[in-house]
Amino acid sequence: MKVISQIKLPVEKEMELFEKKFFESMSSKVALLNRITHYIVNRKGKQMRPMFVFLVAKMVSEGTVNERTYRGASVIELIHTATLVHDDVVDDSNRRRGFFSINALWKNKIAVLVGDYLLSKGLLLSIDNNDFDLLKIISVAVKEMSEGELLQIEKARKLDITEDIYYDIIRQKTATLIAACCALGAASVKPDSEEIEKMRRFGELIGMAFQIKDDLFDYGGEKIGKPTGIDIKEQKMTLPLIYALNNSEPKEKKWIINSVKNHNKDKKRVNEVISLVKARGGLDYAVTKMKEFQQEALSILGSYPNSPFKDSLILMVNYVIERKK
Ligand code: IPE
Ligand code: IPE
Ligand code: MG
Ligand code: MG
Repeated sequence: MKVISQIKLPVEKEMELFEKKFFESMSSKVALLNRITHYIVNRKGKQMRPMFVFLVAKMVSEGTVNERTYRGASVIELIHTATLVHDDVVDDSNRRRGFFSINALWKNKIAVLVGDYLLSKGLLLSIDNNDFDLLKIISVAVKEMSEGELLQIEKARKLDITEDIYYDIIRQKTATLIAACCALGAASVKPDSEEIEKMRRFGELIGMAFQIKDDLFDYGGEKIGKPTGIDIKEQKMTLPLIYALNNSEPKEKKWIINSVKNHNKDKKRVNEVISLVKARGGLDYAVTKMKEFQQEALSILGSYPNSPFKDSLILMVNYVIERKK
């Protein structure tokens, strides 16, 4: 059995019902919008975030979920989808999940508006049901994601990123949403409990590992359903490159910076930078750091009694760093 199906097993029923609710949560009277949301749900992603919501909820409550858990999972996936639609505009990327991105098919104007629509539908789903505690968790994540993306742009312009700033960026743009999944899963079944903060931290650590993995994909040639090798083109300096810069002679460092700044559209030059990053051990270093985050996440799970839900979460933590897309 594929690992992902094995992970899903203890929340299979919940995920099935979730998919139905998720689809319904997007509906609109505007035909164009419906066409686009149909396009989106027919090209679904890995759905890791709703899985986190259900698995955490069930782990902390001996196997129960409720309507709040379902709404929380839908809100998170709506917001995740909205940010991907916007992200592909920001990154000028034409592929997502193995198909054309929304901006590639309908252009930026429409992609921006569709992203806003999905975001507001997510927030309303919480508001309309008085899930204000969940809404707070989610709104913090939405705010942080925007800040993270903007911090990333700021650093891409100045090219003065350090390893610590890199961690700030990925914590904000990616880890907070996964942290929100886990906090929200706990909060949906155990409001006001200490589990919420513990699970938030767990999700944050996995989220860090998750984005390092995503950044490593960009250096590989594998087919992952979205473009690779575009980070340098966008002057996005990620951990492998930051490490290589910090471990190069001044002359080499200057050459790398100059390449990223002035020759980032030159494929041959970009490939030379990529080779140098590899030669300086940038990928190995990123893998080491990713595994440190993974281990810290696993240690939090260690404090919970054994259950099929905990087992799946352990598999999930490992899947995050071993996944092929
Ligand atoms: C992609 O997330 C965006 C990042 C934070 C790197 P996923 O890899 O979970 O995207 P889908 O939903 O499976 O397409
Ligand atoms: C992650 O950013 C997406 C968000 C958190 C909004 P990236 O730009 O690195 O992700 P991909 O690689 O396009 O999915
Ligand atoms: Mg992107
Ligand atoms: Mg991006």
